[in-house]
Amino acid sequence: MAMHLKMTPSILALLVAVVLALIQASWVCQAKRWEMNMNIRMPTDKQSESKEAGTTEEGGTTWAVLVAGSQGFGNYRHQADVCHAYQILKRGGLKDENIVVFMYDDIANNELNPRRGTIINHPNGQDVYAGVPKDYTGEHVTAQNFYAVLLGDKSTVKGGSGKVVASKPNDRIFIYYSDHGGPGVLGMPNMPYIYAKDFIEVLKKKHSSNSYKEMVIYVEACESGSVFEGMMPENINVYVTTASNAQESSWGTYCPGMDPAPPPEYMTCLGDLYSVAWMEDRNGSMSMNGLNPMEFLRLVKERTSNFNTFTAGSHVMEYGNKSIKPEKLYLYQGFDPATENLPANKVLLNIKMGVVNQRDADLLFLWKKYERSMDKPEKKHKILEEITQTMKHRIHLDGGIELIGKLLFGPNNGPHTLSSKRKPGMPLVDDWDCLKSMVRVFEDQCGSLSQYGMKHMRAFANICNEEISHSEMEEACIAACGGHNPGQ
Ligand SMILES: *[C@@H]1O[C@H](CO)[C@@H](O)[C@H](O)[C@H]1NC(C)=O
Ligand SMILES: *[C@@H]1O[C@H](CO)[C@@H](O)[C@H](O)[C@H]1NC(C)=O
Repeated sequence: MAMHLKMTPSILALLVAVVLALIQASWVCQAKRWEMNMNIRMPTDKQSESKEAGTTEEGGTTWAVLVAGSQGFGNYRHQADVCHAYQILKRGGLKDENIVVFMYDDIANNELNPRRGTIINHPNGQDVYAGVPKDYTGEHVTAQNFYAVLLGDKSTVKGGSGKVVASKPNDRIFIYYSDHGGPGVLGMPNMPYIYAKDFIEVLKKKHSSNSYKEMVIYVEACESGSVFEGMMPENINVYVTTASNAQESSWGTYCPGMDPAPPPEYMTCLGDLYSVAWMEDRNGSMSMNGLNPMEFLRLVKERTSNFNTFTAGSHVMEYGNKSIKPEKLYLYQGFDPATENLPANKVLLNIKMGVVNQRDADLLFLWKKYERSMDKPEKKHKILEEITQTMKHRIHLDGGIELIGKLLFGPNNGPHTLSSKRKPGMPLVDDWDCLKSMVRVFEDQCGSLSQYGMKHMRAFANICNEEISHSEMEEACIAACGGHNPGQ
């Protein structure tokens, strides 16, 4: 009954290309880790402040909203990041009633999980899954619920625990999001995406309801800067840092075949570069004993210069009111007395981090799955088919968009117009409703953008910025995709 696995030359070439690209990807982006730490890792002067767990110096409460925007075992790392963040906050003294967790919750008990019932976020890490409140899981992980939770609006929440951020004027709010993104959008496991415009409107509304003192937001996603660039007001007491600027990828780490590698039985990445940096470095930053901030900076710079020959990386960005920099991190994340006397985290400083582009991490996962089914030809065949379909879908999307650009702007100007970037400080697009409607038109004719296709949001934004009409776009989509919707 064994099925014969036919490796046609073109599939073979495709796989070789994918694997080569992954290996290359693993070497870029290391240089910036250290630059990044300088922004995230900030020495605390905790002595001068009250350390009461989960409360601010004014007696307010600290709230947290943690969001993993993906699903699927290939995206293990996003939910691992969020569970880890929960553990840090919990150890820091925040109460469960003040922490709202959004996670699809399909990882811990996934049949592919080698340690069923647990999740780790570091190769030698402990389980971070136990105890995580399952406020919004599965189909309830939606942009609408996220907005409602943040606004403290119990009446519009659908499903889940119903827990919301019922914050008061003296309270602080910490938001942490980890997933795939694209220009102007953050992914969610259920459609629609979080669009920058909508998210910023929610933040403004929250501010006008006078229900917090200060808010700190950390976002890990590709092009995450673009959600805030030219959009984020400075006068609503919100400070934001993002894993990447408006134009670059963010990175998965602790991936199979890379260094540091996950335990051999894992075929998926365990974490994301920016996320593990802010979480792991907390141990050191809470206790800078033996390593003063200047010395730390020197080490970081030295380390960084070692890698200056590399070309890519992601730049941690800051938006909003930058004088709210969370130099007093424990106000948002609590303070764990157990870490006070730990030595600074010197080991971490000396580790090079192998990384993979967020968008290639799922291919890496499929490839590892393929490698591991060597003795099961049928399974192997199915996985190969899945890889081929994934690649075909990507080629279909990329090709479709390129052709639409050429149809709308001419063969010479098309590619350039679609990829052109606006000046720093300008939003991705002026008319966000136009952006949403262009995406709809495209998806109707050419199929779902999916996780990968979010990278093309800039093309749609530029189509709007060039004032292309809805009907022109529709005609171009029909011509480019030939009414053929291959689905996913
Ligand atoms: C930014 O935050 C600081 C510290 O809370 C505050 O004094 C300042 O007024 C804020 N700036 C704006 C523009 O709101
Ligand atoms: C941080 O400190 C805690 C408490 O000592 C320890 O259990 C944990 O392994 C440390 N984490 C890292 C990533 O160093």
